[in-house]
Amino acid sequence: MTEQDNIMLPSLREKGHEITRMPDDLMEQLKIIMQNSQQFQEMMMMYKCAIREVQTKAEVLNDEMSVRYHRNPISSIISRVKKPESITQKLMRKGLPFTVEAIMANLSDVAGVRIICEFIDDIYTIAAMLAMQDDLKLIKIKDYIKYPKDNGYRSYHMIVEIPVFFSKGKTPMRVEIQIRTIAMDFWASLDHELKYKKNINPEDEEIIAAELLSCADRIAETDMIMQQIRMKLDAVEHDKDVTEIIIDE
Ligand code: GTP
Ligand code: MG
Repeated sequence: MTEQDNIMLPSLREKGHEITRMPDDLMEQLKIIMQNSQQFQEMMMMYKCAIREVQTKAEVLNDEMSVRYHRNPISSIISRVKKPESITQKLMRKGLPFTVEAIMANLSDVAGVRIICEFIDDIYTIAAMLAMQDDLKLIKIKDYIKYPKDNGYRSYHMIVEIPVFFSKGKTPMRVEIQIRTIAMDFWASLDHELKYKKNINPEDEEIIAAELLSCADRIAETDMIMQQIRMKLDAVEHDKDVTEIIIDE
């Protein structure tokens, strides 16, 4: 961003205002500035490239495992760069200035990759295989599968730093990777929707939250059973292969 693009959000606070949510007109102005700022556009392009690098790594692992084990551990991959509005809100929440430098140094989730797996053990396999790669630096892990959140949210989160090669050289870029099962993703999408329903009364919200928590627990149980079924099927397949080898010999 140029000098005049460096809008200092905390100055709003210095005037004694207690602002937690940005007024809509100011948000709109900031959005336009971001869209027209060369440096901001460049930063977003860099995050998109970092996403591509991580996504390719996941796809390579999936391709390799599909040839080796005849099944795809990853059922889909979704990526996104954080919306300018959400970036702005997060900067405000953290009391950070509205600059590219502040974003790159402090926000770890501008680039996000969500890997949806079929089974729980696939999540840990993919996570371990990614963590093993020597160009990928592991910054932080949050295992909300072993330690679910109080509302029932389950997912495996990794913050990684990946080098991306641009004309000016190599830049380490942060990417948030969320790995979860299809069932966990199904639950999270409904939970996410609930958070954005504004005109829901507190009583209903409490009931829905309790129902969602109970669904999360049942989903976790189902995920476990599905995995056990797959392991049994794998064992049958393995026995069949062994028998065939013996007969062949
Ligand atoms: P954020 O400031 O929201 O990014 O949270 P954080 O920095 O404490 O990181 P955390 O790993 O807890 O959450 C990161 C992301 O995981 C969120 O932006 C959501 O996409 C997802 N997430 C975390 N908790 C929940 C939840 O309770 N429900 C849903 N649906 N998604 C969640
Ligand atoms: Mg986030």
